[in-house]
Amino acid sequence: MPGPITLSQVRRLEKAARTAAGASYSPYSKFRVGAAVLTGSGRIFAGCNVENASYGLCNCAERTAIFSAVAAGERRIRAVVVYTPTAAPTMPCGACRQVINEFGPEALVISVCDSPARRKTTLPELLPGAFGPGDLLKG
Ligand code: THU
Repeated sequence: MPGPITLSQVRRLEKAARTAAGASYSPYSKFRVGAAVLTGSGRIFAGCNVENASYGLCNCAERTAIFSAVAAGERRIRAVVVYTPTAAPTMPCGACRQVINEFGPEALVISVCDSPARRKTTLPELLPGAFGPGDLLKG
């Protein structure tokens, strides 16, 4: 079992999330978001939001980061850091909360922005009573 998430891991996640926002493809919203996730194996995966001319197909930064981790074989998300270019921190949207729940039902969630303000919470706080794998995979 890995120990608690360290300050150094949080710093690396935050840096990765801020850097990932630089790749944001957001010509419609112009809201450049970056995210990074810490996996069960200790690796960090980053992602940005990727928009589409068909607006409903826009993908949030958090889901890009999680899907990259899963595509690399990871199955457990321990922490998510999301960066938005705002004065106040932004929390993951409902769809992203559901996707985080799939791989990190106990995940730490930290939001950072362009001011020193930050929010630290957990997935169970953001999505209480979540529907998840246990509802389908158990008898
Ligand atoms: N967005 C994210 O990437 N993450 C969030 O937590 C909130 C919203 C993106 C989706 C869309 O590209 C843009 O921000 C505006 O909603």
